[in-house]
Amino acid sequence: MEKVLVLDFGGQYNQLIARRVRDHGVYAEILPYTVPLQRIKDGGYKGIIFTGGPNSVYDEKSPHYTPEVLNLGIPVLGICYGAQLMTWMLDGKVETAPVSEYGKIELKNLSGVILDEVPEKSVVWMSHTDYISSAPEGFVITGKTDDCPCASMECREKGLYAVQFHPEVTHSEYGKKMLHNFLFKVCGCAGDWKMDNFIESTVKSLREQIGDKNVILGLSGGVDSSVAAALLSRAVGKQLTCVFVDQGLMRKDEGDFVEKTFTSMFDMNFVRVNAQERFLRELKGVTDPEQKRKIIGREFFNVFWDKIREQGELGYFAQGTIYPDRIESGRGDADKIKTHHNLAGVPEDVEFLGVIEPLGDLFKDEVRKVGEMLGIPSQLVWRQPFPGPGLGVRILGEITAQKIEILQQADWVLRDEMEKNGYEKEMAQFFCVLPCVKTVGVMGDHRTYDHLIGIRAVTTDDFMTADWARIPYDILARVSNRITNEVEHVNRVVYDITSKPPGTVEWE
Ligand code: XMP
Repeated sequence: MEKVLVLDFGGQYNQLIARRVRDHGVYAEILPYTVPLQRIKDGGYKGIIFTGGPNSVYDEKSPHYTPEVLNLGIPVLGICYGAQLMTWMLDGKVETAPVSEYGKIELKNLSGVILDEVPEKSVVWMSHTDYISSAPEGFVITGKTDDCPCASMECREKGLYAVQFHPEVTHSEYGKKMLHNFLFKVCGCAGDWKMDNFIESTVKSLREQIGDKNVILGLSGGVDSSVAAALLSRAVGKQLTCVFVDQGLMRKDEGDFVEKTFTSMFDMNFVRVNAQERFLRELKGVTDPEQKRKIIGREFFNVFWDKIREQGELGYFAQGTIYPDRIESGRGDADKIKTHHNLAGVPEDVEFLGVIEPLGDLFKDEVRKVGEMLGIPSQLVWRQPFPGPGLGVRILGEITAQKIEILQQADWVLRDEMEKNGYEKEMAQFFCVLPCVKTVGVMGDHRTYDHLIGIRAVTTDDFMTADWARIPYDILARVSNRITNEVEHVNRVVYDITSKPPGTVEWE
C-alpha cells in the first residue's frame, strides 16, 4: 500500500496533516519522533513529513531525530518546527525571529516545486517565534514574507523541502495545492488509496500478526470498540472473543442491541456479562458523585477481568484506541492499555502476548467510515459519546432500578423525537437527566408529587467547550408532552440552557 510517514513532533495541527494527506488519496501513517530509524527504513514510505511542534530546536529537551533520516533517499517535507529541525540537522541557522508571525500572512512565491501553480502572492497560516535565518548549504529559498526571509526552501537533488507556514490549515489559501505538489510531483504518489485498502491491508496484517492465537477485546458498545471488533472478526473470526459487560446503566435496550448486532452479523465469540444486580448492590445508598464513579469503575474492572480470567489461553489483547486517544494519553506509540475511564490497566496476574490497536492511526470520522464499510448498523456507528459510568452520572444521588427505568424511558422518547424530526445528527449530544427532585403536578383531578426530567443537548466540536443546542420549541413541546404522558412518575420537564463552561455536559 502506498503511504507517507507523518513524523510527529508534537504540534497542534499534526492530526490535520495526516488527514489532509489522506484527502489526497495517499495513506498517511503517523509515528512519534521516538520511532527507531530502522522502522522508517522498513516502512516502504514514498515520503516523510516532519510536523510542527511547540519547541525550539536549540532546546536540548526538544524532540529531535537523527539526521540520517534525510539520507534514506525518501523525500522529506518539513513543516514549521519540522522545517527548522531540518535546517538545524543540516547546519543551517535557526534563531528567535525579531518579529513573531501568527495568523494569516502574505507569502511571496519565489518559485519552487512545492509552490508550483501557487500565485505570486497568497495567504498562508503562520505560527512561529523562531525562524530560519540562514538556509543550509545547497538549499534555494522559494518563498518569503515581510518578516520571514526564508518561508520556504528546497534542495531538489536531495529531495528535501521545508515550509515555515502550515499548509494543512485551511487558512493557507493554497495549502492543499502545496501538499498536492509534495505528494505527486515530489514523491510520485498515485493517490489511489481508499478506505477499502485500509480494511484489506489491516485485515491482512492482523492475520499475519495473530496467526493461530486468540484475541480478546473489551466491547463497550461505543463506536471505536465496535469497529475494532468488526475488523478483527473479519481478520480472525472465531479466534476473537469479545467481552461485553452490561452494568445495567446503558440506555434503553442498548445492551440487547449490542449483543444482537455482534452475535448475528459478525463471526466471533461473544460473551455478555449481565451485572446490573451487582452494580446496584454496590451502589446502594451511595450519593456522592465521585464515589459513584469510583464504584462503577472498580466494579467494571473486576467483572471484566474476572470474565477474562475464565477464558483460558489468552493470546492478544485488542482495543479500539484511535489516534487522538494516543495523543491525549501523551504517547505516540501503541504499547499500553488505553487510559479508559473504566479500564485502567491490566491486572498483574493476567498476561497477554501483546496489545493490538487496529484503529490507532485513524480519526473518529475515519473510524465511522470503516464501521459503515464493515456493515455495522448506523445506530452504532453514529452513536453519540456516552460516559463510561453511563446513566449512573445522569441520575443524581442514589441509583435504584426504578430510577434507571424512568430515565431510560424518558431518554428514549427524546431520542425518538429527535430522530423523527431529523435532528439526530445535528447535535453533538442530547440526553435526559433525572435530578431526583420531586415537584408538584396535577393529573386529572388530583395533585401529584413526582419526578422532574431535565433535557440536556449541546453543540460542540471538541467537548471542551459546548453551547446548549437550540432545539426548536415545537419539538421540545412534543418531547415534554410525551414524557409526562408516557413515562410513569414524571410530571415535569425542564430544558438545560447552560453552556460549557460554566456547566459541564453531564450533570454529575
Ligand atoms: P463533561 O460532562 O465533562 O463531558 O462536560 C464531556 C464529554 O465527556 C463525556 N463524559 C465521559 N465519558 N467517561 C466517559 O467515557 C466519563 O466518566 C465521562 N464523563 C463525561 C460526556 O458525556 C461528554 O461527551
